[in-house]
Amino acid sequence: MYINIDKFDISNLANEETLFHVANGYLGVRACFEDELSKDRSYSRGCYINGFYDESPISYGEKFHGYPDTKQSLINLPDVQSISLYIDGDNVNPFNCEMLAYSHQFNLEQGFVRRKYTLKDAKGREFTINTKRMASFVEKHLFILEYTVESHNFNGNIEIVSTVNGDVSNFFAKDDPRLASVAEKPLIEIDAYGAIDLLKLNAKAKNSQLKVYVGIVHEFTQGLEREGYSTATNALVKFKGSIEQNNPITITKLVLLADSYHNQNPADLIDEKIKEVRANGAAYYFYAQEEYLNQFWNVSRVIIKGDENVQNALDYNLYSLLASVGRDSKFSVSAKGLSGEGYEGHVFWDSETYVAPFFQFTQPQMAKTMLSYRYNILSYAKEQAKLLGHSKGALFPWRSIEGGECSTYYPAGSAQYHINGDVAYSFMQYFIATKDINFMNDMGAEVLLETARLWMDMGHYTDKGFCLDMVTGPDEYTCLVNNNFYTNAGAQYNLYAICHVMEILWNKGLGDHLKVSTAELDEFKKAADAMYLPYDDALGITCQDDSFLQKKKLDLNAIPKDKFPLLLHYHPLFLYRHQVCKQADVVLTYVMHKGIADEDVKAKSFKYYEDITTHDSSLSLCAYAIIAAQLGDTEKAERYFKETVDLDLNNTHKNTKDGIHTANMGGSYLTIAKGFAGISFEMDGINIAPNPIQAIKDYSFNFAYLGRTIKFNGTIEGFSIELIDGEDLSINVYGESITLSKDSIWEDTYK
Ligand code: BGC
Repeated sequence: MYINIDKFDISNLANEETLFHVANGYLGVRACFEDELSKDRSYSRGCYINGFYDESPISYGEKFHGYPDTKQSLINLPDVQSISLYIDGDNVNPFNCEMLAYSHQFNLEQGFVRRKYTLKDAKGREFTINTKRMASFVEKHLFILEYTVESHNFNGNIEIVSTVNGDVSNFFAKDDPRLASVAEKPLIEIDAYGAIDLLKLNAKAKNSQLKVYVGIVHEFTQGLEREGYSTATNALVKFKGSIEQNNPITITKLVLLADSYHNQNPADLIDEKIKEVRANGAAYYFYAQEEYLNQFWNVSRVIIKGDENVQNALDYNLYSLLASVGRDSKFSVSAKGLSGEGYEGHVFWDSETYVAPFFQFTQPQMAKTMLSYRYNILSYAKEQAKLLGHSKGALFPWRSIEGGECSTYYPAGSAQYHINGDVAYSFMQYFIATKDINFMNDMGAEVLLETARLWMDMGHYTDKGFCLDMVTGPDEYTCLVNNNFYTNAGAQYNLYAICHVMEILWNKGLGDHLKVSTAELDEFKKAADAMYLPYDDALGITCQDDSFLQKKKLDLNAIPKDKFPLLLHYHPLFLYRHQVCKQADVVLTYVMHKGIADEDVKAKSFKYYEDITTHDSSLSLCAYAIIAAQLGDTEKAERYFKETVDLDLNNTHKNTKDGIHTANMGGSYLTIAKGFAGISFEMDGINIAPNPIQAIKDYSFNFAYLGRTIKFNGTIEGFSIELIDGEDLSINVYGESITLSKDSIWEDTYK
């Protein structure tokens, strides 16, 4: 299980920084070259803690009521990856030497990244640098960097300088709305301490006042002398000695990070962790990493037989999801995980709609933690609803860190009310798959209730039914519309879900704290029954919204390739007034709500929207893959799936340098689970309706359902379902109830 790059290509280094970043859900470090003097050659020399943010005022040309005043952004923390090398006093690095050999490898089984390269400097000295990096899954505060130098043709003096540097800036790009637009130096009050056996640095984020603490200890080859220093903004230790041909020298940097967003007392925590790490040593953590991953792969791996590329890409995606998702309910997952500053570290609907399902299927506890984050920010969502003029309910922020709305452009931001439906859907899916009644009682039901109340507040009855006006659906090239199909379907689900859940809770004598009357639930049900779901009779397709089909069509074939993504080349109004989709909208609705349209409507709508969808958002392809599979278009399903699965590894969206696309990665898993295996969680339980496959000849995976582990295997001829552990269980297969028991395998052909 490896990802490899064996060619030194300067133009690809920015992507490598992202692809080979190491992270563990708490911290993440981009894969830059260590050398400090050449650090300007890094694209974005990032070190992050999930959710660690600074706040900045938003300046608007024209600020209207209810626009957010400030926004939070993930910030770049002290640079902990710097190690510089001097040979007989000369600094040598990949940019002032000749590169003779190069390999960069992600070991997904053991959870580390190795970069090995051989350099020849101006004086003809040849040497290999071999580095190994890991963000520990068992000790989330720990990042390890092992650095080995081996001389091939000389003996001499060597100096290796290991640094922590607090003088860092945030990444920005003036003309790309997907990135911050101004450079900030977010850290202040930097306090650095450097001694031979310990480096320490702490700093404060300028406006949020959040504090970060760094502690570094080293292991090193015997015989090296050490000197420790500090300046106003950094601390370093120099390792000095002599190097002989073929006699490698290693220093291992064990870096601990803790912060005040996630911890009550990060200063003490760092001291405690320094002691622990000194006592255990680096080898212990490398060993524990492999053990941890062993368990992860046992429950989470999708085995693809006969297609190594797809297997590797999928392994990489699932690993990256594990590395991206927060381990406490202070944060869930940002659009780029911990791999870069794209989208400023914000949580979007991506987390519930695309990422949470993978964890719900494989490690429900992690999905629950992600959902707890939403519960924890419910008070912010209630405030946001008020701010937008609602008299009741909660509206989740479109993009956020601590809970406040950080969207500065409401047409493609706060107007995306569908996020409420997405969050509600995710709570409900988790509940159906786990029957975790306590979680539903303690957190889920309140979220479902407050989101439902918002729909009631904003919606109204017309002769068409219950209508929701002035929203933006998932497709961000069509903004501020009435009755977006996706939004209305999500609202309907949300309204039914809370009615269903309250009945269950009340039957169990729970839920009294929720202060909801049967009369209010009746109103919910009435609105859900009457929910208007736009449909065009003449075309026989679902309408994306009330006005979409009346707009002018954009001829995508006439647009030059270099004008994509359109958002970087066309004014929003130009896009809004055309029939053109950035991403799946109607088609995504079919993914979430299988029974919402009949097959014929789905097939016609798929074709219609496919022709006008650019997939400029990475969240789109998987939805097309899933529905193509469900419609029986195997060839198309597998093509879209392949485009999904290696989107980052192949940098097909051309912005992997700014971070991985976590939603798309989740989408690659969803395609297997929902598209190929056809698993869906209906209100009354699981239904498995597998779809035929062709190019992907054989795949299998385990998933969790009601405390059991179930194995699914799909082949060209048919499929099997096996109960791996847990008690006998009834499930639906193509809508028919079957019983799974431990000693028998259910085998069937495709219907
Ligand atoms: C997409 C959104 C998504 C965001 C973050 C945008 O390009 O249109 O749907 O939430 O990226 O991934």
